[in-house]
Amino acid sequence: MNSQKNFIRPLVRDLHAYVPGEQPKIKGLIKLNTNENPYPPSPRVLAAVRAAVDGRLRLYPNPTAQALREKLARLHGCTPENILVGNGSDELLALAVRAFVEPGKGLNAIFGRLASRSKATVQYFTPSYSLYPVLADIHGAGKNAVKLNADFSMPDVVELKRNKEWDFKAALTFVTTPNAPSGRGYKTAEMEKLCRAQKGIIILDEAYVDFAAENALQLALKFPHVLVARTFSKAYSLCFQRVGYFVGHPELIAALDKIRDSYNVNGLGQVAAAATLDDLKFYRANFIKIISTREWLSRELSNLGFRVLPSQTNFILARPPKFPAKDWLQKLREQKFLVRWFSAPEVSDYLRITIGTPAEAEALVRTVCNILAVSKS
Ligand SMILES: Cc1ncc(COP(=O)(O)O)c(C=O)c1O
Repeated sequence: MNSQKNFIRPLVRDLHAYVPGEQPKIKGLIKLNTNENPYPPSPRVLAAVRAAVDGRLRLYPNPTAQALREKLARLHGCTPENILVGNGSDELLALAVRAFVEPGKGLNAIFGRLASRSKATVQYFTPSYSLYPVLADIHGAGKNAVKLNADFSMPDVVELKRNKEWDFKAALTFVTTPNAPSGRGYKTAEMEKLCRAQKGIIILDEAYVDFAAENALQLALKFPHVLVARTFSKAYSLCFQRVGYFVGHPELIAALDKIRDSYNVNGLGQVAAAATLDDLKFYRANFIKIISTREWLSRELSNLGFRVLPSQTNFILARPPKFPAKDWLQKLREQKFLVRWFSAPEVSDYLRITIGTPAEAEALVRTVCNILAVSKS
């Protein structure tokens, strides 16, 4: 009975941790598996980061990311009190679970009574970002996973009311918009309907929104129970620096601010994100390139027999022909392409492919042609 396991809380012992996409150790792979941006940060951003690497590294960074929050407030037409910056948006999603959701299962175990179920519920659509259930599990909260329609569109409020699975009072609801891993975009108007109907906190996770036709940021400034999550990782080529932010009502932001680490955003990350906001023209040109490669790749793969879902993100979800998607994952890897496959039943027939450079997309199409040709011979 002296196993180390006995020191670990049962909840943690039994937890299925989030599985990030592979960051390969071998060189020469074409990485289309984690929705990173194929283009580097702007020269001005790189220069700003380099200029910040000196003796000041011994100092703590600004604890509230003040300069960055001021710039973000100017960008979004709000005040710095509407904004909280995090160590990537993942940190903020976790903070939201801790701030707004009762750890229901834990309370039941300790006090032997039921906490109100909705107050202990983290709710989300499936498929969507696979971190949400893990965050609920870490917190000992309940989960309410409600299926999207078969084409990955969002059931409207009338349908959600009719089928009764959706909890309009759930303490916290996550909506990935545009959706991952389907890539499907949602209209701001339908998001607004859901926000109006929802009584608990609702987080619109807009990690990929710069590649989409619409965004719902204004809803975070209009409704007191809506937070919008954004990140510098995807559209702004800063995964390495880990910077994301929430926009929302100052009272929600202040509550989250109370429970974050004092220096949650590293100094170089703050410098890089602030410099990014001074160079948005550079990034907008990248969005256009990525969207045009996405449309090209979608057409080419469709011509080769893939069922490619329309995407408003920097990735596509595509059902390959001939072999199961999991076999394609392996076949592509043998040819040095890393893509992502998820075992969840709604998406297990599909591959998620990040949009790379045009040269990478062309190389992928050539490789797919070769794989299909070999299968015929
Ligand atoms: C939907 C969604 N939200 C949030 C994140 C996390 O982004 P960050 O790098 O800011 O933590 C991701 C990353 O894959 C994502 O797919």
